[in-house]
Amino acid sequence: MSVQVWPLHRLRLATADLELRVMQEADIDPVCEVLPDDLDQDPAATRYPALGERASRSAVVAQEYWRAMGTWSPARWALPFVVRRRDGEPIGLQWLEGPDFSADLVVDSASWLVPTARGLGLGKQMRTAVLELAFRHLGAAAAISSAVLANASSLGVSRSLGYRDTHTSVLEHRGETLQHLRLERDDWLRSGRGSSVQICGVEPALPLFGLGDEHD
Ligand SMILES: CC(C)(COP(=O)(O)OP(=O)(O)OC[C@H]1O[C@@H](n2cnc3c(N)ncnc32)[C@H](O)[C@@H]1OP(=O)(O)O)[C@@H](O)C(=O)NCCC(=O)NCCS
Repeated sequence: MSVQVWPLHRLRLATADLELRVMQEADIDPVCEVLPDDLDQDPAATRYPALGERASRSAVVAQEYWRAMGTWSPARWALPFVVRRRDGEPIGLQWLEGPDFSADLVVDSASWLVPTARGLGLGKQMRTAVLELAFRHLGAAAAISSAVLANASSLGVSRSLGYRDTHTSVLEHRGETLQHLRLERDDWLRSGRGSSVQICGVEPALPLFGLGDEHD
């Protein structure tokens, strides 16, 4: 993937223990190799039963990546980051999404880690990294998140980073209650939680978010 033509791929975020780089074509295989079996995927995603369960789940990951890049626009975008320990193999994915960004400046997120990397504070680090990108560099006004009540670690990440519960809804295909949360820009910036995140390569990527100075 050309970083000249598609400067999103120059974007890199670093935390105390992690490096997050925008996913590229070459990451699809290594990411799918560590895809957890317990991860809930989009129930609306196309399945390919004759491939077998694991390959079919991997195809969903590949299509989500291609869809994100292929349908990108400043109005609505979805940005997948591959998460690695410094210089290591992939251990997870962190998505930052602006599903109606030009209208409301609200970002959403989704993430997973391999089971052996969970419960160590890494989920908080990777969410912190994308929140700092969104609030400090992309002008986001708020971040939202949601998880089923049983997903204590996802809700734990949100609450410990300052998100507040807003409302619940019912996840129809599972009949479970979904908790919705929201974090405001001023609360994030005041908290100083993003101060240790290092962000490189954001300037060349700004035009893809509809930001930055116009060229002739
Ligand atoms: C969700 C996920 C990315 C979180 O990452 P993680 O590294 O496990 O989470 P962390 O260790 O960074 O932090 C979890 C926070 O939740 C809290 N937490 C975890 N389990 C908890 C529980 N059972 N009850 C209350 N709080 C809990 C932790 O204490 C921590 O908060 P704190 O630092 O204030 O103490 C990871 O667990 C995962 O991959 N889960 C499977 C995929 C998934 O469910 N993704 C989310 C879909 S919405």
